[in-house]
Amino acid sequence: MCGIIGIVGETQVSDRLIDGLKRLEYRGYDSSGIAVLDGGKLKRSRAEGKIKSLEAKLNDTPLDGPMGIAHTRWATHGVPNETNAHPHFSGRVGVVHNGIIENFTELREEMSDRTFESETDTEVVAHLVDHLLSTGLSPIDAFSAALKKLRGAYAFGLIIDGVEDQIFCARAGSPLAIGIGETEMYLGSDAMALAQLSQKLIYLEEGDWAVLTPTSFRIFDSNDNAVERDITILQGGPAVAEKGNYRHFMLKEIYEQPETVGRTMHNYIDEFRLAADAPEGLDFTDIDRIIIIACGTACYAAMVAKYWFEQVAGIAVDVDVASEFRYRNPVVDKRSLFMAVSQSGETADTLAALRYCKEKGLRTAALVNVMTSTMAREADVALPINAGPEIGVASTKAFTSQLTALAALTLAAGRDRETLSRDGEIRMTRAMITAPRLIKEALELDPKIEQIAFDLSKSSSAFYLGRGSQVPIAFEGALKLKEISYIHAEGYAAGELKHGPIALIEDGTPVIVLAPYDTLYEKTISNLQEVASRGAYIILITDEAGAASAHDMADEMIVMPSSDGFVAPIIMSIAIQLLAYHTAVHLGTDVDQPRNLAKSVTVE
Ligand code: F6R
Repeated sequence: MCGIIGIVGETQVSDRLIDGLKRLEYRGYDSSGIAVLDGGKLKRSRAEGKIKSLEAKLNDTPLDGPMGIAHTRWATHGVPNETNAHPHFSGRVGVVHNGIIENFTELREEMSDRTFESETDTEVVAHLVDHLLSTGLSPIDAFSAALKKLRGAYAFGLIIDGVEDQIFCARAGSPLAIGIGETEMYLGSDAMALAQLSQKLIYLEEGDWAVLTPTSFRIFDSNDNAVERDITILQGGPAVAEKGNYRHFMLKEIYEQPETVGRTMHNYIDEFRLAADAPEGLDFTDIDRIIIIACGTACYAAMVAKYWFEQVAGIAVDVDVASEFRYRNPVVDKRSLFMAVSQSGETADTLAALRYCKEKGLRTAALVNVMTSTMAREADVALPINAGPEIGVASTKAFTSQLTALAALTLAAGRDRETLSRDGEIRMTRAMITAPRLIKEALELDPKIEQIAFDLSKSSSAFYLGRGSQVPIAFEGALKLKEISYIHAEGYAAGELKHGPIALIEDGTPVIVLAPYDTLYEKTISNLQEVASRGAYIILITDEAGAASAHDMADEMIVMPSSDGFVAPIIMSIAIQLLAYHTAVHLGTDVDQPRNLAKSVTVE
């Protein structure tokens, strides 16, 4: 999704703005641009494609000054090209924007005497502020008056020709943070952009806007009252965003999972008492239902949790994709617990679902990776997964950490609701504690999976099948393959295939079957045989007992380390991640920044 960085100071900013943009690359983008005030004059450079195209332009025609704004654009209104790239200029004003201005056509019509260059919604903001300046308003009044006319979700950085020491910024619906320096102030759409510049951040709240100078910042709420906001000190220095010896961030993040899953576990499991604890503020005994809302991969983690919570803790769980939930006026009950699951904590639809349920009086929790995110701040209880920054657009380590946290919460819920015996709790906690070691063993299958991926990369479509808590892993496997290799893939509940999709199976169609040796194993193997007898090319992902029983039923077999069925979804995830990764690498796609995708989807 779009990214913003801004600096107002005394020394040249161009290189540092470009550096900030590079730190935002992971969010996904299709063009970039930079604007500076050089001797009080507004200048810009923009380019379609990767930031290196922008750098090449800046090498030919350098641009610098003591203040500037820069942007990575993920197209919403208007194709990704140089004209639609930010910053957008009108007269004296330059602006970068994340989000969507919903009333931009209306505003364009109101200013039909002006010439618009681009197809974007953003350009209207530059025109609006420039128009208000031309009526004689001061820069600060023009900015605040413009905000009152905008509808939609936005985060802005705005500079004005001739106003040499001020950046204006605002937040409504899209996150924005101010970084505090000694003789400089910074603006960034997330902590990652600012990490090299400042450890002292202020996250603007809904409706806030601010004016930054090299030595000060003034923040106002949506009613233009001056307000103070808390300063957050970033822990641990600049966020780690290096690939190290790995070819891609995604591979690095896959390999980090023994550690990240262990880290998540430490938040929720007491390894000495062999017990899981619900964090303070989360009481599973006085609720009738859990509503878990999420998008994409996070939603598949939630679907696994439905199996767990219902089977182990006897709580009814509703799982829904946020974009549907938020607009169907869902009937919710105050005795339900609402839980958002989100790596970024900023996904627009999930955030809207959280706000909806909060308004309806439900207790809310947010399971997030970014603890400074809007969801973490707005939910009654913020539940960390502690997976560390996830840079690869395709989520991997956040997924297994979400699963780990949800598994631990299930155990706490089961114990507190007395549906799980102490013996059961000990057995399942022990099973969880073995997960990091089993993930490590699973990673040793990498060369074998790479070899299988070579064949898979020659296919144009694939199916993933599973039963029980492996169904969401089948969905996740198909999503991973689609998003990074661009091979069409579908995940299905194995028993569902014969109700239609089996018509698509022909000679050589790859079918990836997820079948750990559990109570559903034989049923899944029957479904495997149904597709095998119609010519499917079977890749069976199972464990040692499953492999012994499957004999020669599969064309290829990935034999995962044996695990307790409770944690099997976490362990099996490693195989589907590696399979998608190597398939994409064989096909030569842009693994870390797949086409059309954004890391954090802050527009609906
Ligand atoms: C897929 C992927 C996405 C995200 C989804 C939700 O690999 O990463 O499907 O899971 O966009 O994002 P968060 O978890 O940040 O709310």
